[in-house]
This record gives sequence, C-alpha cells and structure tokens, in this order.
Amino acid sequence: MSNDLSRRRFLGVAGTAAAAGAVAGTAAAEEQKASPSGPIKILGICTSPRKGMSTAKALQVALDAAREVDPDNVEIELVELAGLRIPGEPAAGVELEPGERDDFPSLVPKLSDPKVAGLIIGTPVYFSNMTALCKAFLDRLMFFRKNDFALADKVAGVIAVGGSRIGGQLLAVESVQGALYGQDMIVVGAGPPTTRCGAAVWNQKDKDVTADEAGMQAVRDVGRRVAELALRLAKA
Ligand SMILES: Cc1cc2nc3c(=O)[nH]c(=O)nc-3n(C[C@H](O)[C@H](O)[C@H](O)COP(=O)(O)O)c2cc1C
Repeated sequence: MSNDLSRRRFLGVAGTAAAAGAVAGTAAAEEQKASPSGPIKILGICTSPRKGMSTAKALQVALDAAREVDPDNVEIELVELAGLRIPGEPAAGVELEPGERDDFPSLVPKLSDPKVAGLIIGTPVYFSNMTALCKAFLDRLMFFRKNDFALADKVAGVIAVGGSRIGGQLLAVESVQGALYGQDMIVVGAGPPTTRCGAAVWNQKDKDVTADEAGMQAVRDVGRRVAELALRLAKA
C-alpha cells in the first residue's frame, strides 16, 4: 500500500472517530503525525473472554514468529479483548441504552495506527464457531469499513483454538476470514508446505496449548506469512 493511501485512510478514520467522541483530540493528532514509514506493526487480537489463556498463548507464539521474520522492522502487540464490553448494536446503527458501557472506541486508535500492517485474530472455538466477543468485535469493524475501508490491504491471519482435536476450528477460522474479506483485507493461510487456511489448535485440558505441535507449527506459519506479506507490501 502506498504511504499516501495509508495516510489518507488513517486520517479519515481518526477524523471520524474524534468527531464521534471516540478518540481524544490530542491522541488522534499525535497519531496523525506518526510516520507510516519505518517498522510495521502486527497486532494479535485475542477474542477469548478468558485473559491469558490458551488463545492468548497461541497468539503470542504467532506474534513471536512474525517478529522473527525481521526483528528490526516488525513490531508486535497482543491485544486481549477479555474484560472489554463490546456490544454489537452500534454496528447496525442502533443506539445503546443511556450509560451502557462500550469499550470498542478505546480500540480505535490502536487499530488506526498507520504502522499497523497486519492483524492476527485468535478465537476459541465455541460450538464450532467463533466466540460472541469475536463476532461483536468483527461486527464493530464496520466503523473502519464505513471510513473508506480503512483496513483494506492490511494482511490478516486467523487462529482458532478448540478443546477437541476436530472441534470446529476450521469453521471458526473460515467464519472469521469471511468477515475480514468484508473489510477487503488480504487474508493469508499458513503457507507451505501443506494447505492450511489458518491455524487449527487443540487445547488439551491436561496440557499447555503449546503441546499441540502441529497446531503450533501452523500458528508460527500464520504469523510468519502475515509478517512476510505485510513487509513486502510496505516496501512496494
Ligand atoms: C461455550 C463453550 C463452547 C465450546 N465449544 C467448543 C467446540 O464446539 N469445540 C471445541 O473444540 N471446543 C469448544 N469449547 C472449548 C474451548 O474452545 C477451549 O477450551 C478453548 O481452548 C478456550 O480458549 P481460551 O483458553 O483462550 O479461553 C467450548 C468452550 C465453551 C466455554
């Protein structure tokens, strides 16, 4: 993505967020000054309602692999949504009740940072699909879509962690990917040597999630693919 395009998209988002009272004016202004050149940033978005658990651990493995691609030029950050209240209604223009908590606006500056060139979304598998928190977050990304498709051309990878070996990870991954296509993001799989459309991880109750060797390999590969392509696009 050219720097001009990246900046134009970001300014549109930051401006609208500020107008909506979602971003403090000074913070938005500071971010507008940030240079889109230099290191890129990959965000890992953990959509488990449980903080620091298996999905967060898997995402950290993916992020570490992303940084390893080029440690001088790839910054990483794990963003856990656990504990945040993200109602879905505003995505459809439905107003919240007076005083109803909405933490999505606090995520807007982070996602709008022009350095952010890639997202890795991690979801636990809940009844063969993503969590409600993940769905609400993805619905609220409507904000970016309405702001000149501000997430378009950013690279995205997806990880799903289930308590069963074949517990619906694939459906969860593909459901998240479907929402990301709706943002015109560039969705990647896990790359060679085999065909994996993302990372399917098995969280065995009696073991740490990192014990799933095949799952961790896919997780590392997703992280690497996201970073490799995001770097290539940043240099284009
Ligand atoms: C409501 C609910 C539904 C679940 N449904 C599934 C499922 O369909 N398939 C599966 O493999 N695991 C299922 N699990 C297990 C979680 O996916 C698994 O424990 C996961 O590792 C939790 O992620 P976390 O440790 O990051 O919170 C379910 C758990 C909950 C709480």
